[in-house]
Amino acid sequence: MSRRVGLANLLGGLVAAGVVAALVVAPAPGYRWQLPRGFPVPKVPADNPMSVAKVELGRHLFYDPRLSKNGSFSCSTCHDQGRAFTEAKATSVGVTGEIHPRNAMGLTNIAYAPVLTWANPTMRALEPQALVPMFGETPVEMGLAGMEAIMLDRLRKERRYQLLFRAAFPGPADPVSLANVTKAIATFERTLISGESPYDRARLGDRTAMSPAARAGEELFFSENLECFHCHGGFNFTGSVDYVGKGLPEIEFHNTGLYNIDGKGGYPAPNTGVHEITLRGEDMGRFKAPTLRNVAVTGPFMHDGSIATLEEVVDHYAAGGRTIAGGPHAGVGRTSPLKSPFIGGFELEPGEKEALVAFLESLTDRKFLTDPRHANPWTQPFDSVRWGARRVRGAAGGR
Ligand code: HEC
Ligand code: HEC
Repeated sequence: MSRRVGLANLLGGLVAAGVVAALVVAPAPGYRWQLPRGFPVPKVPADNPMSVAKVELGRHLFYDPRLSKNGSFSCSTCHDQGRAFTEAKATSVGVTGEIHPRNAMGLTNIAYAPVLTWANPTMRALEPQALVPMFGETPVEMGLAGMEAIMLDRLRKERRYQLLFRAAFPGPADPVSLANVTKAIATFERTLISGESPYDRARLGDRTAMSPAARAGEELFFSENLECFHCHGGFNFTGSVDYVGKGLPEIEFHNTGLYNIDGKGGYPAPNTGVHEITLRGEDMGRFKAPTLRNVAVTGPFMHDGSIATLEEVVDHYAAGGRTIAGGPHAGVGRTSPLKSPFIGGFELEPGEKEALVAFLESLTDRKFLTDPRHANPWTQPFDSVRWGARRVRGAAGGR
């Protein structure tokens, strides 16, 4: 309960402060999206247009442990590039050891997400979302509550930031502010775009990019028998999507019959899905369907990391809902009155489960997972002249 109220207060404050801006197309002179072929242009808030300097600043902040209470955690602690910005733990652990009830979500193509986190219909933009891990207390993630001024002072002392904040936010006032921190982080996150998987190469005509098994799995995925595409459809393999030219964003939450602890479709608290926010009975167990791009490297799976492998995810859907035989969460998901009509269950021929998994694996974009532009900048060389430092006479390249 305190979690819900805490979040609502935090967000209420943000709305009052005008931080939650409507997403519209922000003209950004000089900024060029590098989008995979066929991908639409992401929407960007009018008061936070894209810029190369802001992306670079945001990347530094995303990887900076100064953004945590004791200097031990950065966003990347739980959002690791090699795992498509997720982590190996079933549920996250914060800087003070507090256990988060949920599994860290991936940030693949997060620029196209009209709603953020597993089941919060009010969380609509990346700028305010970044405040939750930094300052949230239920649970504590980075533990910065009450430490805003201390954190900003830490940043002001860093030489790279003295250049980067100025380059990203030119103007007379001190650019090192919390609003600019979240704007820069959100700008970096919007560049985390992935669309060069074997599946994409096959779509562009390279018949050898996908194995025959993966192609058979693709047909199963898009079949009316398995129904996967109804909730994981479109170029980003999720029903919740937005982009320039879309009009209204699509936002969907579904109950997949993962739990049924009371015979009435109940999920174990505090992970009751959208219900946690709305307290409406029909929202019990409804979660966002994550993008399936790069899903093979994001395990364990589901909102609470309660499924270890993709094979077991397929078993859950094939059964039309998961059965838990004993313990506090025992129940038969198949008989849940709240599960989506698309979770009907299906039978697979020998080899078909492997094919479906091979298809999901063909959505892994190795280039994205190793792209140096998305990697930790603190271990990369820094071009201070590029970001505004004056060339020192006599220094290399200065004559
Ligand atoms: C302690 C681990 C942890 C840290 C540190 C952390 N996150 Fe997360 N992140 C999570 C978890 C867990 C979720 C799912 C939260 C939920 O559903 O309530 C999440 C969700 C998100 C989402 C939503 C993704 C989606 O698909 O909807 C974004 C965006 C995000 N985090 C960005 C950040 C940023 C930016 C930072 C640093 C300022 C950060 N996170 C730090 C664990 C973490
Ligand atoms: C009714 C909508 C719906 C259908 C149909 C559906 N899914 Fe999902 N999928 C979801 C939702 C919602 C989640 C998250 C559920 C949760 O965490 O409780 C999810 C989660 C997943 C995950 C785990 C993702 C992660 O990052 O943890 C995989 C993999 C997956 N689905 C694959 C499939 C496949 C394969 C099919 C077809 C057999 C399918 N889905 C059918 C809605 C759906």
